[in-house]
Amino acid sequence: MQKRPHTPTLSLAGFATGRNGARRPDLIERLAVHTAEREQTQLLRRLRTVDRADGPWLDVGNGRLLSFCGNDYLGLAQHPQLVAALARGAREQGVGSTSAHLICGHRTEHAELEEALAAWTGRERALLFSTGYMANLGVLQAVLTRGDLCVQDKLNHACLLDGATLSGAELKRYPHADAAAAARQLASNAGAAALLATDGVFSMDGDVAPLRDLANLCTREHATLMVDDAHGLGVLGPRGAGSVGEAGLGQAEVPVLMATLGKALGCMGAFVAGPAALIEGLIQFARPYIYTTAMPPALAIAALEAVQLAQADEWRRDKLFALIARFRRGAAELGLPLAASTSAIQPLLLGSATAALAAAQTLERRGLLLSAIRPPTVPSGQARLRITLSAAHEEAHVDRLLDTLETLHLPPAPRAATDDPV
Ligand SMILES: Cc1ncc(COP(=O)(O)O)c(C=O)c1O
Repeated sequence: MQKRPHTPTLSLAGFATGRNGARRPDLIERLAVHTAEREQTQLLRRLRTVDRADGPWLDVGNGRLLSFCGNDYLGLAQHPQLVAALARGAREQGVGSTSAHLICGHRTEHAELEEALAAWTGRERALLFSTGYMANLGVLQAVLTRGDLCVQDKLNHACLLDGATLSGAELKRYPHADAAAAARQLASNAGAAALLATDGVFSMDGDVAPLRDLANLCTREHATLMVDDAHGLGVLGPRGAGSVGEAGLGQAEVPVLMATLGKALGCMGAFVAGPAALIEGLIQFARPYIYTTAMPPALAIAALEAVQLAQADEWRRDKLFALIARFRRGAAELGLPLAASTSAIQPLLLGSATAALAAAQTLERRGLLLSAIRPPTVPSGQARLRITLSAAHEEAHVDRLLDTLETLHLPPAPRAATDDPV
């Protein structure tokens, strides 16, 4: 006799009764409970649909908001040359790459972009990934294995932490930017193969990692240093080569460099740059590289255009840093609780999630879009407004932001957070 498939019956409490009568939790209902908990604690994330972007201006519903929350640091996302390159690429190559790099998705345009990225960052080779998230998962999963040690800054981006978990290596996190603590963690397992991974510019804090100290430590300890320069590339360093370039560190000191194409370059995607042996190994073993469709070749053409503009247009960095200085000067005069950051990411530390959310909502009512960053993205009690500046902004935009922030009567800056040079 053919067996009938068992259809579980859902109880009111979200439990289904299994074949042997055991009560099994319903996964979707459990998720709904967690979502409701987030809502109660002011931590719910909400999706916003933007109708149209026009530089830093966003059309949302019936209103127009001046945005200070994107990562288009050089103002390239809508550059006519990028738009034309994307359109030309689509006309010539179609939209999709049709397969993974290792099947037939790897095109001349990808290879040319990889060469340009390697040359820009002073590395032997580069390898494209579809996103920065996948690049970090790919590197960590490919180079580390069970029994290895992965030492990371506590404030590293989520995908570096997730990559370490995926790799099966022992993960040890050191207090933010504390190279001495990183040294202790490396020493705690001296015999293990070790990778030390850090953001170059921290995504929620905007400060730069102590890269030279970490490089010296890794050299001493025979550990491999990996830097995620998602927020440094294009912004810092000679010709925008990034935080690693600014620290004067070559491939020997930072053998694994990851950066994204979706922030200062205004496109989407990411790359890993380093020695040929690293790149060859990633092609063999990085599962998020192997088992996914290659980025559209038209996007690679647009990204190459962005790389050339980012290197050549020094004025974009000059303008961005003039706006950062203007904002920091104004914020210091107003006594705003500004974090010690000299990058395009300028957090205002508000503490509670409720305070950060209320401030963001008030600003939005006054025409400004800023993101309230709350736990779990940042530690509990460290909620903030993450303000980002761009070469697409004008001085008048920064002044409007300062004027509006003044009306919020935010709590004053803790002493340590304001005394960095502007
Ligand atoms: C430091 C850092 N690394 C990696 C990523 C992920 O990059 P992507 O958005 O390309 O996935 C981000 C941002 O999203 C980031 O801030």
